Amino acid sequence: MKRIVVLISGRGSNMEALVRCCAAESWPARVVAVISNRPDAAGLEFARAQGIATGVVDHRAHATRGAFDHALREAVAAHAPDLVALAGFMRVLGPVFVHAWAGRLLNIHPSLLPAFPGLHTHRRALEAGCKVAGATVHFVTEALDHGPIVIQSAVPVRPDDTEGTLAARVLVTEHLIYPRAVRWFVEGALELDAGRVRQRDGQAQWLMAEPAAVGGG
Ligand code: GRF
Repeated sequence: MKRIVVLISGRGSNMEALVRCCAAESWPARVVAVISNRPDAAGLEFARAQGIATGVVDHRAHATRGAFDHALREAVAAHAPDLVALAGFMRVLGPVFVHAWAGRLLNIHPSLLPAFPGLHTHRRALEAGCKVAGATVHFVTEALDHGPIVIQSAVPVRPDDTEGTLAARVLVTEHLIYPRAVRWFVEGALELDAGRVRQRDGQAQWLMAEPAAVGGG
């Protein structure tokens, strides 16, 4: 049984998708803890209700980024994870944390990386006139929203989209691709070679959302 720790900052819908798929698809894994940097993260409630251990490492209680990284590393290490999954975790992690979990640290980012790392991805995609948007699951490296790509999803951008409608359309696909990526990881189906990730069984490392299914016209 692989042990998964999920880090969140808020709503936690991606974490919820991971927990639900892990159980429904009988992965050889278990989400052993959900840790937040915010005590009021709504996702903590869901985790508690599932009987999953929860923890809070409040970034405001640490004077420096390094001190926060240390504290978070210790809190995560206490659960001896095989995989750490960032799911809407809104703090930038430094080398102290990233090196501790190198190759065992995944993130989901709501853009087609390497386009639009950082914040406000949907607003920036709309401003740039993008016709396609999406999400990316990637291994975490020290560079923000960068690192070997595991899977990407693409959705159409509609002319009348707002940040909210586009975010919602992308989120539907996040809940599909993140569980898929984590499942591949815990089943040992991912291979990292020279910065590229290969799915050993040749499964598609992309998802093109059906426009009708995601409100794309
Ligand atoms: C998601 O869009 C995720 O990709 C981004 O922040 C959002 C978090 O949503 N990093 P949730 O907390 O998983 O519901």
